[in-house]
Amino acid sequence: MTSIPYHDRDGYIWMDGHFVPWREANIHVLTHGLHYASSVFEGERAYNGHIFESRRHSERLHKSAEILDFSVPGTVDQLEEAKAEALAKSGLENAYIRAFAWRGSEMMGVSAQENRIHLAIAVWHWGDYFKDKMKGIALTHSKWRRPDPMTAPCDAKAAGLYMICTLSKHAAEREGYADALMLDWRGHVAEATGANIFFLQDGALHTPTPDCFLNGITRQTAIKLAKARGIEIIERTIMPEELPNFSECFITGTAAELTPVRSIGDVTYTPGEVTEALVTDYSDLVNGKIKMPA
Ligand SMILES: Cc1ncc(COP(=O)(O)O)c(C=O)c1O
Repeated sequence: MTSIPYHDRDGYIWMDGHFVPWREANIHVLTHGLHYASSVFEGERAYNGHIFESRRHSERLHKSAEILDFSVPGTVDQLEEAKAEALAKSGLENAYIRAFAWRGSEMMGVSAQENRIHLAIAVWHWGDYFKDKMKGIALTHSKWRRPDPMTAPCDAKAAGLYMICTLSKHAAEREGYADALMLDWRGHVAEATGANIFFLQDGALHTPTPDCFLNGITRQTAIKLAKARGIEIIERTIMPEELPNFSECFITGTAAELTPVRSIGDVTYTPGEVTEALVTDYSDLVNGKIKMPA
């Protein structure tokens, strides 16, 4: 174990309207969210004391809950206030913010109509998601596929959708890879286990249409930054056979930020001019050095 366990840290966690000492922010083992994955969450980053795209994350948490047939307690404005308080209380300027909501323990079965909905916010320091990120990461192929929207609520950032992500990431790490590329149920290129993916071909950026996986806030930001540089964006179906046709590749996500990819399986990429420019733009944007392009 390389980091301090998450249950055994100093500080406070905002839980159902109050700050509780970090080690006391506990729930009962018979919690619906734990047994039936009735839980939604957000991953956000603060830079220099400002949560990047905070409101959009709060809105997405509310939307994810609605998709799972429950409501986050309170309004988006109240969640915004609570996140700001949690960040201030942490004393951190650059931090990761995890806001999450789940069904409690009043009923324990598939039906959970009467369960109380809980909301919590934790803030901690989280550096780069990948070791040696700027050298570019190596991906392998996952055997798990992103499900059909008729099979799982794929627009929600819901805990249950991460079951196949953890399985994929563990298998990749066991083979010495940083992460895995997941296809979707049709066999189209989809995304990595916690980040969206982009490819460069003849000066244009190609990215899979997000029709069965999260259309990430970082993905949407990267698209705006690329367009501001005059780079054409092509959202389309990408087949795995096309992977050798691309010259650069990167992934996007709140935790991963913009991370260059140096290989997917046997196919190699050279993180080049376009990836480097967008990594810089993203860093300038989140640090307030440039404004969000229209
Ligand atoms: C599976 C998955 N896809 C994509 C993303 C990227 O989303 P965002 O850029 O909003 O963080 C994430 C991270 O939240 C994720 O977990």
